[in-house]
Order: sequence, then C-alpha cells, then structure tokens
Amino acid sequence: GLRKKEVNILCLGLDNSGKTTIINQLKPANTQAQEIVPTIGFNIEKFKSSSLSFTVFDMSGQSRYRNLWEHYYKESQAIIFVIDSGDKLRMVVAKEELDTLLSHQDIRSRRMPVLFFANKTDLQDAMSSVKVSQLLCLENIKDKPWHICASNAIKGEGLQEGVDWLQALKK
Ligand code: GTP
Ligand code: MG
Repeated sequence: GLRKKEVNILCLGLDNSGKTTIINQLKPANTQAQEIVPTIGFNIEKFKSSSLSFTVFDMSGQSRYRNLWEHYYKESQAIIFVIDSGDKLRMVVAKEELDTLLSHQDIRSRRMPVLFFANKTDLQDAMSSVKVSQLLCLENIKDKPWHICASNAIKGEGLQEGVDWLQALKK
C-alpha cells in the first residue's frame, strides 16, 4: 500500500509532566515499556496513526537537559507540550519554558502546530485544561495552530483526541 507520510514531532515539557508515559501509550502494545523512568537526554520513538508515521523526540524535561531542546527545533514539524495539571507550583516555570520556546528563532516564524496535553487529570487537585490554558496564556498564540487536551496518560485517556488533531492538520 501507500507509505504513510512521515512527521517529526518534538515532545517537550517539564520533568515529571508525563511525556514518556504519553508517548509510550501511543506506541504499539508489543513495543511498550513496562516501566517508565526519567528520561536522560532524549529518546527517539515511533508510532503510527491511520494516515501518518510519527517519529518523536521524547526530550528530558530536567532543567540540566532543557538546553538540548533547541537543537531539534529545525527538523521538527510539530510540538507536543506536556503539562502536569496538578503541579501548580511549577506552572510558572512551564510558562517560562513555553515562552522561551515560542520566541526562539527556529520556531517564532513558523506555522508549526503545538499540541498541549494538560496531563494527570486524575490527580485530586488537578487544574482543568481551561485553567491550564489561561495560566499559560495560550490565547496569545496567534501564529500557530494549537490545541489543548486533558489527559490521563496512565489510563491512556485523551491521547487519541490529540493525535487526531495533529493528523487532521498534517494530512
Ligand atoms: P522526564 O523524562 O524526567 O522529563 O519526565 P516525563 O515528562 O517523561 O514524565 P514520565 O512520563 O516519566 O512520568 C513521570 C511520572 O508521572 C511517572 O511516575 C508517571 O507514572 C506519572 N504519570 C504520568 N502521567 C500520569 C497521569 O496522567 N496521571 C498520574 N497520576 N501520573 C502520571
Ligand atoms: Mg521522559
């Protein structure tokens, strides 16, 4: 049959937000890791949707590795940005990293889709995706298509909605 169109995705967000857990859920069941550990540097993962073949750079969110992110901006066609909806204390840090990302010279001028996951919705004190999008001032993003999904990466909830959104844009 036809080869699926290939899309490079960069998965970003603070450490412990759930990036690797999300990507792991999107992989075929027989290639999923049983145990998720904090990412060192980055890992490259692959998964497919009905019409696309995704290569994901799953970056470490630890502060000491965040300087690696920018090296992958040029070759990426979309960004997944993950937020821990229960981490109120570090929402301002997440916003700082997002603002730095969006103003970077390799991102700024491009109409690059950004998919946000307001992850860990299962936590007792999780903020809603509306609240998260307000705190991150997402309405100020005018030059890029963006979308936010509430997700529970442990159960895999909300992830398909995000992939469907990316796929519709990239088809
Ligand atoms: P770094 O690789 O360090 O940047 O972290 P990460 O963003 O890849 O986070 P990771 O996927 O390693 O998940 C961090 C922790 O959060 C793990 O203990 C996960 O099991 C947990 N976690 C991920 N998603 C969810 C979720 O939706 N709900 C809950 N309750 N825990 C989650
Ligand atoms: Mg990780």
